[in-house]
Formats: sequence, C-alpha cells, structure tokens
Amino acid sequence: MSILPSQSTTAFVITIDGPTASGKGTVAQIVAERLGFHYLDSGALYRLVALSVLRSGTSIEDEAAVAKLAKTLPCHFENGRIFLADDDVTDTIRAENVGNMASRVGALPAARATLFSLQTGFKRPPGLVADGRDMGTVIFPDAELKVFLTASVEARAQRRYKQLIEKGFPAKISDLRQDLHERDQRDTFRSIAPLAPAADAKPLDTTHLGIEEAVSQILEWYAAKKH
Ligand code: DC
Repeated sequence: MSILPSQSTTAFVITIDGPTASGKGTVAQIVAERLGFHYLDSGALYRLVALSVLRSGTSIEDEAAVAKLAKTLPCHFENGRIFLADDDVTDTIRAENVGNMASRVGALPAARATLFSLQTGFKRPPGLVADGRDMGTVIFPDAELKVFLTASVEARAQRRYKQLIEKGFPAKISDLRQDLHERDQRDTFRSIAPLAPAADAKPLDTTHLGIEEAVSQILEWYAAKKH
C-alpha cells in the first residue's frame, strides 16, 4: 500500500509516542517509508547523549555537563545508520545500559531543552513521522495526527528480548521485565515532558497486533485526515 503525498511546501506531521519496546520505532519507520516522509527517532538522540555520557565518564548527576554534551553532540544520520563523530553506533546505542542511561538523560530539563530545536528541525516537507515520548505533547503539539502506541509489559519484554538477541547482545527476560518497568516508571513520573498521550492522540494497543496491522491502522487514520 502506498499513499504518496502531493508536492507541497508544508509538512504533515505524524507523532507516535509510547513506552519503550512498544514497537513504535519499527512502525514509525515503515509509515515514514510508505508516505515518503522524513523520520525522527527522538529516542536515538537521548541514546546518543547517553552513550557520550558513558564514554566520557561524565556524571549523570552533573546536569550542566550532560546538557553541554547534548549541545555539542557530533551526530549525523545517514542511510538509516547513526553516527557519533565517525563512529557507526547504530547498534551500540540499542544496548540496555545505554537505554537506561537515556531514560536518566531524559529526566534532565537542561538536556531536554538542548535537544528541542534539533528535533523540531526534522520537520520538513512533505512530512515527518516522529517517535518518542513527548512528540505529540511538547515537540510537535500541532501535529495533524497523533498516535499513542502501547503494548503489555510482557509483550514488550518478549519483543525487546528478541531484538537484543538478534543484535548479539546478552539478554535475560526477567531482567528485561524489571528494566521495562523501571523505565516506564521513570519516563511516566518525571516532572518534565513525561510519557503521556496528548489529549488528541489516538490510542493503539499492539499487544495482539502485528507490525503490518499497526502500520495499516495509522495509514488509514492518515488517509482520513488528508481528506
Ligand atoms: O524510545 P527509546 O527506548 O529509544 O528511548 C530511550 C529513552 O530516551 C527513554 O527511556 C526516555 C528517553 N526519551 C525521552 O525522554 N524522550 C523522547 N522523546 C524519547 C526518548
């Protein structure tokens, strides 16, 4: 199925927010591809800062130093690969310790403020699909279509397990369940830009949905908004 946008100078924004391992990254990427839209993986930015924190030995308690790392982040995205300076870190940033540190970076207001304009800069014609925690609430509050993607903790733990094993990372399902729970708590109850559906977001529970079904639902919502 392909719904191609007409030539336009405006950008249609679709936000897909949700908890970790809900499948939003995969779904968002496919929706972007089908529509010929740009794609923003905002979690990758937090993960890149987290990796810089870990590699530089910066204390996560030192908010100003973490914000400085975020400000001078030498990152670029190229053909689906993610680089920190010349280092291809596409797989490295998916490790659990980097994800957990990213969640701690995300709780720092100064780091969030620094990453704000980097994220809004991804909005370009013909459109953007942005996934994260606060895409529909804070970064793109005027987005035309907002989706809040969820799945049960068990389904997400199984997905994350599969993902990690496929990438060659060690993983234990009971540890993952615990990690997911802790990250949900931190992302949901932090004081700044918490994980929450925007008032006008459409909920999509993927516990029993395949990727293709989730993609189709979002494309249907998109088609309905375009007309
Ligand atoms: O989506 P992800 O698992 O790659 O995100 C990793 C962490 O980054 C997540 O636990 C919290 C943080 N994050 C955030 O605070 N805001 C976003 N928009 C995206 C991610």
